[in-house]
Amino acid sequence: MTAPKWWQQAVIYEIAAASFQDSDGDGRGDLSGLLQRLDHLAWLGVDALWLTPVQPSPFRDFGYDISDFCAIDPSLGTIEQFDQLVTELHRRDMHLILDFVPNHTAAEHPWFVESRASRASTRRNWYVWADPGEDGGPPNNWLSRFGGSAWAWDDTTGQYYYHSFLEEQPDLNWRNPAVREAMADVLRFWLRRGVDGFRVDASAVLIEDDLLRDDPPDPDADETLPPPQRLRRIFTDDRRESLECLEELRAVVEEFDDRMLAGEVQGKVDRIGHFYEGKRPRFHLPLNFALLDTPWDALSLQANIDAYLNSIPENAWPCWVIGGHDKHRIASKIGQTGARLMAMLALTLRGTPFLFAGDELGMEQAPVVAGRIDDPFEKLVPGYGLNRDPERAPIRWDEGPHGSFSIAEPWLPQDDRTRNVASLKGDDRSILHLCCSLIALRKQEPALTQGDQEPLRARNDILAFRRRHGGESIVVLLNLSREPRRWLAMESGKVLLSSHLDRKTGLPVDPPLLLRGQEGLIIKSGR
Ligand code: NOJ
Ligand code: MG
Repeated sequence: MTAPKWWQQAVIYEIAAASFQDSDGDGRGDLSGLLQRLDHLAWLGVDALWLTPVQPSPFRDFGYDISDFCAIDPSLGTIEQFDQLVTELHRRDMHLILDFVPNHTAAEHPWFVESRASRASTRRNWYVWADPGEDGGPPNNWLSRFGGSAWAWDDTTGQYYYHSFLEEQPDLNWRNPAVREAMADVLRFWLRRGVDGFRVDASAVLIEDDLLRDDPPDPDADETLPPPQRLRRIFTDDRRESLECLEELRAVVEEFDDRMLAGEVQGKVDRIGHFYEGKRPRFHLPLNFALLDTPWDALSLQANIDAYLNSIPENAWPCWVIGGHDKHRIASKIGQTGARLMAMLALTLRGTPFLFAGDELGMEQAPVVAGRIDDPFEKLVPGYGLNRDPERAPIRWDEGPHGSFSIAEPWLPQDDRTRNVASLKGDDRSILHLCCSLIALRKQEPALTQGDQEPLRARNDILAFRRRHGGESIVVLLNLSREPRRWLAMESGKVLLSSHLDRKTGLPVDPPLLLRGQEGLIIKSGR
């Protein structure tokens, strides 16, 4: 057996620098602020940080509109501070993963400025240009995810350009080898600076159908879905051509030792397996949102976990995402006690867990009133609950003004005062201590990180599974009901951890075991 890789054992913690810690009083977090908080992250025990984009950007889409791939946005800091971040993380045995946004640039990117300058520009075919359709309108019916046609008219050169997202986020033309080469060099630029890996943004939409065939209406989509989601995106999303590009990205990452490639992949769970490997390897970790998209009961969870495991290759390493900058906070969906169970689940299932900064505080959707909306998704497709600002709210570190995130008014409204690091640190039964204890337990019990996983049949509202490694066997029991529930089917053992943080470690337990409402228990078999 080969030794596990760092990214198979790691807890990965996503940070949007703008929402983490401000150091210069402009109400937006920055790299220097993040550097000040590294000791807290070391205390929490997370092993790797994934930073959402830090490159220069007009910030129309939370930094996912990049105008220079090989620099740091001045509002976030300098390249020297970035290098310092790499050094400081590595000194603490932590890893750094960067967002890589290959599908599009900001309209301000010099490549696009050149591309749109004239049809004769050497960079013309770095983007996706097309003539009007027969009626003089857009070339076909493709829709932008952010609303309206995916084609924007360019007056100067008399053609349309394609944008999967904002009009100010033109799609790069990944059929062009020069684009692929330039983007490979972007990866190398950061890999040489010591970055340990990437999370590839929007990886399924790199290449569209070259015949520009229209997408059909989705027969399952009704009026309750936002208009951009009412087409079946056969000709724009998840095409074989795009998946092949991922093999090239992976090959670049393999030029360097021990790096990791994770990816945002679209589509249903039954497609996720394709993102691991085709003719050649693709992602180490295609991000899996199954735990977030599941009804919160034992039977649905049991089924969705297996549906995911069934859909990935047998030798593939799983991953489990419980929060992210595009996803409503889990604590708002399933409540504070539910969020504790979710943390226990993600940190004990076989695979790599991904947390979004603030999940360990039980952060909920922050109240964002109409005048403060920043997210273009909500502005352009209003009324469908799509606003992503509420989960992007800046962290509160203590009870002070603005939670000591900033001396100025934060760029987005914040979550409840009580959900701050200092208060939760002072309460030894808080969700923060639970996350910290779970992460520590993973380091202490190899069965939780390296062990096999064997499902147990969910009964009585209890989701259950076993992890085994060497001679050790650990059982995880999660009572999803608000009422106490009995678990009969277990041998004797001793308590490792209760999600209520009030059972003594090492306490012997025998069947029948009584779990309290929404209690999770980790038990080591045998005495
Ligand atoms: C996926 C990112 O996660 C999301 O935040 C962004 O809006 C789109 N890609 C477009 O870049
Ligand atoms: Mg700042």
